[in-house]
Amino acid sequence: MTAELNTESPATPMHEQTLIQQVADNLSQQLIGHEKLINRLLISLLAGGHLLIEGPPGLAKTRAINRFAQLIDAQFVRIQSTPDLLPADITGTDIFKQNTGEFQFLEGPLFNNIVLVDEVNRAPPKVQSALLEAMGEGQISSGGITRNLKRPFMVAATQNPIEHEGTYPLPEAQLDRFMFFVEVTMPNADNERKILDTVLSEMSTSLQQQALLQLNDIIEAQKQVSDVHISDAVRDYIVRLVAATRGEGLAAKVAESITMPASPRASIFLAKASQAQAYINGRNYVSPEDAELLACDVISGRIGLSYQARAEGVNARSVIDAIVQATPKI
Ligand SMILES: Nc1ncnc2c1ncn2[C@@H]1O[C@H](COP(=O)(O)OP(=O)(O)OP(=O)(O)O)[C@@H](O)[C@H]1O
Ligand SMILES: [Mg+2]
Repeated sequence: MTAELNTESPATPMHEQTLIQQVADNLSQQLIGHEKLINRLLISLLAGGHLLIEGPPGLAKTRAINRFAQLIDAQFVRIQSTPDLLPADITGTDIFKQNTGEFQFLEGPLFNNIVLVDEVNRAPPKVQSALLEAMGEGQISSGGITRNLKRPFMVAATQNPIEHEGTYPLPEAQLDRFMFFVEVTMPNADNERKILDTVLSEMSTSLQQQALLQLNDIIEAQKQVSDVHISDAVRDYIVRLVAATRGEGLAAKVAESITMPASPRASIFLAKASQAQAYINGRNYVSPEDAELLACDVISGRIGLSYQARAEGVNARSVIDAIVQATPKI
């Protein structure tokens, strides 16, 4: 069934919207205090984006993606990045078949729907670049042949920003291919207690999680998301936010600390993510608040700050927050 979103708000949510809400509810019981991360995971899936989760160890980054993937009836794989990883370990490789005397391509882990790349900054640059092609183009080239990846295809990568030893910082071109940069932070004492209770009770029960969302539901929901109306006024607002990183508009003073502004990918991702956010909230049109809410997680990871700004303790998130504050919605 193809349910098209019309310009009137639907009185009852569509089947796929209900399923997505169920996934969100289920995840919020398993990932204490991670509502924002859950929302960004769902938006990435619905808008065809990839996300990078940053935070110190032990904050349920891996758990979040594992549990998310369990609720979706999609092919899921986890890649643990190590310095000796080779591009072919993730893309696949041609193997020689003795019985036929021919080479046959053996698909690597990137030929899955949801790919968790744990500790992505531990992977060497050649692997990061293979990942880049997959994320940007949805395809892989090897031995002169280009192969399409599965649909949907979503990369969720994690990294610990504090660790430097034995890591290869992701190049800017790589970062630009992520839709979201999500930061996870330490829980407060109340949430810490809930985490403890949740994990301890899981240890005493062995409940097998049922998938709630099928592949065709996701593909249908993605179609519905791309039909969500995004007005000229909202498009202009998104452009104002991104152009502000280049010193245009009222936030010019703040933008002085930016040496590498955001590319048009930022506005495209922000628009698509806002459509998915509106859809999750049961609306068939994007409001400026959708873009406002997501701006920091979309834009902050793709800008570079001057040496001076960094020395003064300015960070990309605070710069984008200030830009959002200074940029008029209409
Ligand atoms: N907010 C949370 N909700 C539920 N469980 C949590 C939460 N925070 C931490 N945990 C628990 O803490 C443990 C560590 O989680 P996990 O391995 O996913 O962390 P991580 O962020 O991937 O760490 P690392 O960076 O070291 O890989 C798990 O047992 C997980 O259940
Ligand atoms: Mg982990």
